[in-house]
Amino acid sequence: MKNNQELMEKIVSLCKRRGFVFPGSEIYGGMANSFDYGPLGVELKNNIKNLWWKHFVHERDDMVGIDAALIMNPKVWQASGHLETFNDPLVECKKCHHRFRADKIESKKCPDCGGEFTKPKQFNLMLKTFLGPVEDAENTVYFRPETAQAMFVDFKNVLETSRKKVPFGIAQIGKAFRNEITPGNFIFRTREFEQMEIEYFIEEKDWKKVFEEWKKEMWSWMTDVLGLDKKNIHELDVPDNERAHYSKKTIDLEYDFSFGRDELYGLAYRTDFDLKNHYKEPPYEDAETGEKFYPHVIEPTWGVDRSVLAVLYDAYAEEKDRVVLKLKPSLAPYKVAVFPLLKNKPELVEKAREVYNMLKREFTVAFDDRGNIGKRYYSQDEIGTPFCVTIDFDTLEKNDVTLRDRDTMKQERIKISDLGNLIKEKV
Ligand code: GAP
Repeated sequence: MKNNQELMEKIVSLCKRRGFVFPGSEIYGGMANSFDYGPLGVELKNNIKNLWWKHFVHERDDMVGIDAALIMNPKVWQASGHLETFNDPLVECKKCHHRFRADKIESKKCPDCGGEFTKPKQFNLMLKTFLGPVEDAENTVYFRPETAQAMFVDFKNVLETSRKKVPFGIAQIGKAFRNEITPGNFIFRTREFEQMEIEYFIEEKDWKKVFEEWKKEMWSWMTDVLGLDKKNIHELDVPDNERAHYSKKTIDLEYDFSFGRDELYGLAYRTDFDLKNHYKEPPYEDAETGEKFYPHVIEPTWGVDRSVLAVLYDAYAEEKDRVVLKLKPSLAPYKVAVFPLLKNKPELVEKAREVYNMLKREFTVAFDDRGNIGKRYYSQDEIGTPFCVTIDFDTLEKNDVTLRDRDTMKQERIKISDLGNLIKEKV
């Protein structure tokens, strides 16, 4: 386990310094546990989301996507059981009045002042607001606490327009909101976060088989697509009393963060709980037998922000005099950086710009002419750029460049005309 607080501090500092993640509303003193993704963070996050969509939606025949409203009719949350049961147990210190999640705190006394706790009470996590000018009960609405419900509520519309047959899935990427009692650990637990979710509709008899299939898919996503080291990932079979109200079986995929082992993703068997609550009549009819029924649901769910955090943890390395993010090239914010050897030689700068513009048509590319080449390499290592290209005097004569590899630090001469294909192959 990468078990030291120092590592988290280093990652937070790198994120701020290099433009991955900033504290939210910072110039107004910040806002607790709110974060903004900066220029590099948004690229990393978009790469994760785009790979997910490609992998689970575009490359499969049994999947379609939606992008639903964040605020839904409050009846949705009545029917889904969230208004009644989406709670965490809250305790309050009688002395300093700090609040904690009873199920997440090990000591019986307040960790801040040693005071006694009140008895736990159930605290609903739904984040409220009002629609329209009148702030009363009738106009109370909720920001969705999971993207999942839209896939159930839109089930019939999707079915009719896509003509999919069970088994098939609906996927969505989007924001979710929870009034968490104790957010913390950087972007691990926040009140506003992003999810990538799939509701996979099946016949009840198949649930165990499909559950196993999705577990494999999730492992493959973590290790093959994100490139996480499998020794940092663990499965937790969530016990009955800790499962969400809708789930008959849940497995958490946990990651060894420096603050401890905690949930990265989840996989749940939601039975027909949700569709039954939303539809009076069975919403699905088998085209061959004419049988009407409520499909059952396997739900693999991924947190986007926790994906970013796990990827950063796994990629972060300190080697001799450099810090390097060993991101998979497909995740790296910049795929390649282009440098003129000397800033004050217009012919080198012009050629470097030409190469930069050529590569920019296909990749995200950085251009840097500050400081010396060594510093520029280290600067790109720290943000995970897999390749650096240097234009020197030989380039002007032979039309070749030095290509430097982030991980091996090896350099080779490559023809400019071969550069695009070579990088494409590696990325
Ligand atoms: N639809 C099922 C569902 O929402 P969940 O386990 O409550 O299940 C799914 O959430 C995923 O969303 C988690 O595995 C985690 O990655 C992410 N997540 C949940 N709460 C979060 C929070 N407060 N901050 C950041 N990510 C969160």
